[in-house]
Amino acid sequence: SIEQRVAALLAQMTLEEKVGQLNQYSGREVTGPASDRKNTLLTSISSGKVGSMLNVKGVKDTREIQAEALKSRLKIPLLFSLDVIHGYQTTFPIPLGEAASWDLDAIRLGAHVAAKEAAASGIHWTFAPMVDIGRDPRWGRVMEGAGEDTYLGSLIAKARVLGFQGEKLGGTDAVLACAKHFAAYGAPIGGRDYNAVDLSPQQLWETYLPPFKAAADAGVATFMNSFNALNGIPATGNSYLQRDILKGQWQYPGFVVSDWASIAELVNWGYATDKKEAAQQAITAGSDMDMESDTYSQNLAQLVKDGKVKMDLVDDAVRRILHKKFELGLFEDPYRFSDEKREKQVLADPQNRAAARQMAQKSMVLLKNEKATLPLTKQLRSIALIGPIAKAKRDLNGSWTVDTDTTRITSLYDGLRQRAGKTTQLLYAKGCAVEGDSRAGFDQAVATAQKADIVVMAVGEGWNMSGEAKSRTDIHLPGVQEELFKALRATGKPVAVVVFGGRPLIFDAIADQADAVLFAWWPGSEGGTALADVLYGDYNPAGKLPITFPRNVGQIPIAYNQQYNTGRPLIKVSETRYRSAYIDAPATPRYAFGHGLSYTSFKYSDFKISRSQLKAGETVQVSFTLTNTGKVIGEEIAQLYLRDPVASVVRPLKELKDFRKISLKPGESKTITFPIDKDKLAFYNSKLEWVAEPGKFNLMVGSASDDIRLEGTVDLLP
Ligand code: IFM
Repeated sequence: SIEQRVAALLAQMTLEEKVGQLNQYSGREVTGPASDRKNTLLTSISSGKVGSMLNVKGVKDTREIQAEALKSRLKIPLLFSLDVIHGYQTTFPIPLGEAASWDLDAIRLGAHVAAKEAAASGIHWTFAPMVDIGRDPRWGRVMEGAGEDTYLGSLIAKARVLGFQGEKLGGTDAVLACAKHFAAYGAPIGGRDYNAVDLSPQQLWETYLPPFKAAADAGVATFMNSFNALNGIPATGNSYLQRDILKGQWQYPGFVVSDWASIAELVNWGYATDKKEAAQQAITAGSDMDMESDTYSQNLAQLVKDGKVKMDLVDDAVRRILHKKFELGLFEDPYRFSDEKREKQVLADPQNRAAARQMAQKSMVLLKNEKATLPLTKQLRSIALIGPIAKAKRDLNGSWTVDTDTTRITSLYDGLRQRAGKTTQLLYAKGCAVEGDSRAGFDQAVATAQKADIVVMAVGEGWNMSGEAKSRTDIHLPGVQEELFKALRATGKPVAVVVFGGRPLIFDAIADQADAVLFAWWPGSEGGTALADVLYGDYNPAGKLPITFPRNVGQIPIAYNQQYNTGRPLIKVSETRYRSAYIDAPATPRYAFGHGLSYTSFKYSDFKISRSQLKAGETVQVSFTLTNTGKVIGEEIAQLYLRDPVASVVRPLKELKDFRKISLKPGESKTITFPIDKDKLAFYNSKLEWVAEPGKFNLMVGSASDDIRLEGTVDLLP
């Protein structure tokens, strides 16, 4: 068995060789502060001092470096890892965009395609999925997660893990996945990346941990801990998180890698005096592998010799890592994932781009569409495509694409040019840059708009404006893009705006005055083609926001399920005195969680709750009829929300408990049923027990968290 092989190998290893397995170095790219180890890297590898590399990719490079590892005494192969976050060569929409599809099969497929490409290019392990709940749009890394909701986020976590890893590890079309960042990295104070996190135990358990548990239950091979401190203890040195919860209560068998230099950063936090103490704290707390900080390589052996760290702890970490190397079959063939022929074949497979196109279509959210401005029609004589992202390629990829070929991205201009065909003229003007205050291009943009039947604008954030270390205090559309919109609006032409970005953005003039607004996130390699599909109605948009779009930064935090009735609920919007409200803005968001329109319309009717009372072990069926009342085929994501109106702990006004994505032809109806059992009614009480308390529960079904169409109640009996 693998356990026996691991034990036999471990028995042959010196302490230094064991520590080597816990050491990970970065290669030719950097995804954190650079080190100056270049000259010694290969000798460290060939002398068994490195267990894993990140940021080395491609068959040629991984073969070359693996060969060094095989010169070491025990010939233990390296694990090659990379941030394959939303695609390897073929890029998919950013994870937040994928989440807007609420389409678990498509998300799983996206991860599978990414894994297939990466695994053909020498990669064994991706640092994805990021399963951090992200509720603060100032935090640039919301782009990398599944948004603000724990229920949706947990399902997506599972789908991504299964997509990356397949059902069982070891196939050459799969990679090890990594649930990151453990834990609560998504809740930094002030939305500032790397900052401390202060969370009540209930919030930690109810909101932030479940997606990690879902990933662990799905068999995720590894975890990454996080940069933040949680309630005063840095996550990397946090025994409660890693030992008590992850490896204790959850019995997690995989290994935990630190984040980039986060072990050494225990010193910066003021939690350890020096790197030696940091190494002791991290290994004791359950961090198995040290990414980039040389803290283990420099201190761990001595700590064991000094009796400060037990050999058992080191052995346990090594065992976990070796186990994964055996599972991947690297001892049979260390070059299994580095096959030149396969690399060429897989990277050229047109199905990868087809999957990326479909995923991009599904990710787009139609925020507004008045007077049926969209879809565009064949009858249009001319379209003016205007804006700084109209011809952009790199900006469609967004951040977290390590070195992908940006020339292969289809721009919106290319996509529309192809789709518009010969009968419709496509005019173009850039108008302005994404950032900066130059209005020099406005006149030409206005003149271009005046010549066209309709204006399509392409605005948003540049690719590098969200992501790691990209927190912003101002999440308005950058630069003078909204000014450009106003100038175009003044022409009187219909204006449809496509907004790109890696987070919720604020664009008041556009939201108020544009005829149509389509949020496209950063849609990836096939972004332009998919946009043409959506703008022309070849694909009817069905995405729904997985994160709330605020009206202004002062409303944050504004996640839908962080809203409570309070002791002073707002009853009349106009009466804010002594009420829980703002006096200078509504308390409601600009676009709510779950919002997203379609080119068709849906009717919700025939609400039924199969029984009015529920006991443990029983299930209530909540059902309704959904009808496509419009003229075109479309998909609706029907959402079930719940409220526990009286409980021993104050509960949110709404919590998502289920959803269904349904495709309906014009005039077609379907009956949808959501089963509800006692577990769906449960929460963590003040003693951190998972309980469902007897009493009444409100059940709400709707098209968005702020668009509830059907309501009823059920009683939980003692
Ligand atoms: O995987 C990432 C992590 O999410 C942030 N810091 C760097 C790591 C490796 O690139």
